[in-house]
Amino acid sequence: MVTNFLQKYQLQNHQLILPKKQFITYALYALVALAFLHYLLFYPALASGKSVVVAQVQEEVAAVVSARVDAPEQLLPLPPPPSPNQGDKALGNRQAEEEVPAPPPCDYSDGEWAPEARPPLYNGTSCGTIKDGQNCMAHGRPDTGYLYWRWRPRGCDLPAFSPEAFLRWLRNKHLAFVGDSLARNQAESLLCLLASRSPPELAYRDGEENRFRRFVFREFNATVSVFWSPFLVKVAEKAEHAGVRHNNVFLDAFDERWMSQLGALDVAVLSVGHWFLIPGVYHDGGRVVACHDCADLNHTETDFFGVFRDAIHRTLAEVTRRHSDGAGKKKVVALTTFSPAHFEGDWDKTGACPKKRPYRAGEKGLGYTESEMRKTVVEAVRSAADAAGAGSGLRFAALDVTALANLRPDGHPGPYMNKDPFGGGGAGDRRVQNDCVHWCMPGPVDTFNEILLQTVLR
Ligand SMILES: *[C@@H]1O[C@H](CO)[C@@H](O)[C@H](O)[C@H]1NC(C)=O
Ligand SMILES: *[C@@H]1O[C@H](CO)[C@@H](O)[C@H](O)[C@H]1NC(C)=O
Ligand SMILES: *[C@@H]1O[C@H](CO)[C@@H](O)[C@H](O)[C@H]1NC(C)=O
Repeated sequence: MVTNFLQKYQLQNHQLILPKKQFITYALYALVALAFLHYLLFYPALASGKSVVVAQVQEEVAAVVSARVDAPEQLLPLPPPPSPNQGDKALGNRQAEEEVPAPPPCDYSDGEWAPEARPPLYNGTSCGTIKDGQNCMAHGRPDTGYLYWRWRPRGCDLPAFSPEAFLRWLRNKHLAFVGDSLARNQAESLLCLLASRSPPELAYRDGEENRFRRFVFREFNATVSVFWSPFLVKVAEKAEHAGVRHNNVFLDAFDERWMSQLGALDVAVLSVGHWFLIPGVYHDGGRVVACHDCADLNHTETDFFGVFRDAIHRTLAEVTRRHSDGAGKKKVVALTTFSPAHFEGDWDKTGACPKKRPYRAGEKGLGYTESEMRKTVVEAVRSAADAAGAGSGLRFAALDVTALANLRPDGHPGPYMNKDPFGGGGAGDRRVQNDCVHWCMPGPVDTFNEILLQTVLR
């Protein structure tokens, strides 16, 4: 049945530009894969040993990843391996460059990946806050070429990350990441980057699930916290073990777990998107206004773009309202744009995201879903900035990472979300779980934070 579906799909889809309808169908199926991943990654304790779940989603997921649209692709060649001397010199340079001058406004959204000889600021053993599933090095990923790239914007320069400059800026300040597991991925990347200069201390965490954490860099009295809030607005999350496969999202209620902390924040980095692609029922004013992937419920099926736009716009409007109501210390509100996934083979085989180097600029176009999700955030930021006005002390910015992330099929954990996935012999035909959504650390997600640094310094 899956095979038939695939054959039909592939026959229909030789052209690169698909009609919107088919993209939405694709997205519909894609969300199953994402649902599985989120289930797996956010509830690791529950997921272990849940082979039933694996079996259930396997068929649909196999359909998704094979139904992808193949763009002609050219991968960049691997850069030459750095010589040991270059590494040493790089460290020296980095210290010399610690004074990062305020740069002219630069469009970081468009550019290409260029070879970089300098090693990352941290590795799988030097940083203690890497989530297990993203520690590709410690989990035995054998290739290292994916570590030696830097993002080169088309018209300007993106300076290397300076932990010193970031921590000095963050002195006596509080930065919070708010969002889903991609927000957490970016938060943990920032913690590792900063830890290469000064060790963070875990000051708070809410039990085992790690939904809310706060870290303090004592030397700088700088605080970084992480809030779990996958829709930004209020949600009753799905509970698959209890047979609830839809998130119930309340567009007219805010998620006070983070919203109530707004007054204490100097920077909020909001990053959501992927959870809108998984099954959801959306409520507004006591009515169901949208339903995504809900053939089994008695609601009319809608796409998720409208409710995504709504959730973002309402959240930014509320941030502005509370700010002008007196929660008002000077504040930067940055939104990370959609970060594309790169499933390409069978999701449970070795080759789900097997590429070992980036795409060349322009060789891999953005999918329809990714492009719409990105655009929604960029436009919401623009209109929130217009509405807040200069002089409000509230600055909105987009961390426009969609294009640069789209070009990094090589940056995901893939099978190395688990330790030593091929232990005890060749990969062969063995089934393994693959994560082609989140990012290895170190990896391309560190670039998100290079852009964040330039954004707060501006
Ligand atoms: C990781 O970094 C630490 C500290 O910089 C270093 O001692 C160690 O050799 C590195 N490990 C790898 C695998 O590169
Ligand atoms: C430390 O930082 C917090 C913000 O996170 C600030 O409220 C507090 O005043 C700072 N402490 C000192 C001694 O400056
Ligand atoms: C769905 O709607 C139909 C017709 O209105 C009704 O007969 C049926 O019981 C409803 N099913 C559920 C699960 O509410």
